[in-house]
Amino acid sequence: MYLSSYPASRLRRLRKSTQMRHLVRSNTLTSLDLIQSLIIREQSQFSEIAAMPGIERQTIEQAVASAERALSLGIPALALFPFTGPDDRDSEGSLAFSSDNLMCRAARAIKDAVPEAVIIADVALDPYTEHGHDGLMNADGTILNDETIEALCRQAIVLADAGYDMVAPSDMMDGRIGEIRKALDAAGHQDVAILSYAVKYASAFYGPYRDAVGSRGALKGDKRTYQMDPGNAEEGLREAALDVKEGADMLMVKPGLAYLDMVTRVKDEFQMPTVAFQVSGEYAMLKAAAAAGAFDFDQALMESLLAFKRAGADAVITYAATHAAELLRRGDAD
Ligand code: PBG
Repeated sequence: MYLSSYPASRLRRLRKSTQMRHLVRSNTLTSLDLIQSLIIREQSQFSEIAAMPGIERQTIEQAVASAERALSLGIPALALFPFTGPDDRDSEGSLAFSSDNLMCRAARAIKDAVPEAVIIADVALDPYTEHGHDGLMNADGTILNDETIEALCRQAIVLADAGYDMVAPSDMMDGRIGEIRKALDAAGHQDVAILSYAVKYASAFYGPYRDAVGSRGALKGDKRTYQMDPGNAEEGLREAALDVKEGADMLMVKPGLAYLDMVTRVKDEFQMPTVAFQVSGEYAMLKAAAAAGAFDFDQALMESLLAFKRAGADAVITYAATHAAELLRRGDAD
């Protein structure tokens, strides 16, 4: 019989009611932990994103409304990504350096309407290059590290000038955090924070995003010469250590769910504000499974978001942030 030792450990005592479970819950998710990921577009461009039902590319006007809605639900921040069609791409990613590009206009519009919103800009060239890579490419197809960093510094300054509170380099070039920090400081942007995509894997889970920003058809080859090999863990700690040393304010692990071990290890090791990104493919996976009748989308979403908190994330970027915050507000997330 179970009671062979006395007193017996009956862990079920503290699970017997909702209130008892609330009392002893060690990790909670609130809207304050969420960052709304937003794909933006020009008026003339299509809104549907393949494989991401419920998520649309938004015009600047819609993005402003989304920011207002997110803030009203307690979500502190939004991370923006631009769709760029083939005609606006070139080999250098020139549009990234234009103060009148979609990202910059969106920042000004959001800051006008909701100045308290924390807005985060991705720093990488992939929405702007004709080959869909995050960096500059030479004739033999190599992604050039140091030349790319110079471009990223210019891009970061343009974004900071437009009003972004935080820049988030997602490119995985070596040494870019330190150079971007120097460039921002020299341009008078000492107060613009850097959220480093420090531990970013070469992942199949970015599939729907590449479609969302217009890179799917464009991308030549893959990103395995700069994004991390999914088999590596300690290397992720080295990546994070370098970024901390170079001046990152926050660290990100990406993708999220398949890399929860790295969220925990990065948080434990560095005690830095740590963000997990529930990427496009994770959202698509939840939606597709729910559509197939495998489970309830809302329940699976809230469970996965709570798992990021349990793993040690301080915040989670997700396409479903506003939806999750609505569920939390209604009290539907027990
Ligand atoms: C690229 C970038 C990617 C994402 C954010 N920035 C994809 C990639 O590395 O190809 C992924 C976001 C998502 O999948 O939701 N700079």
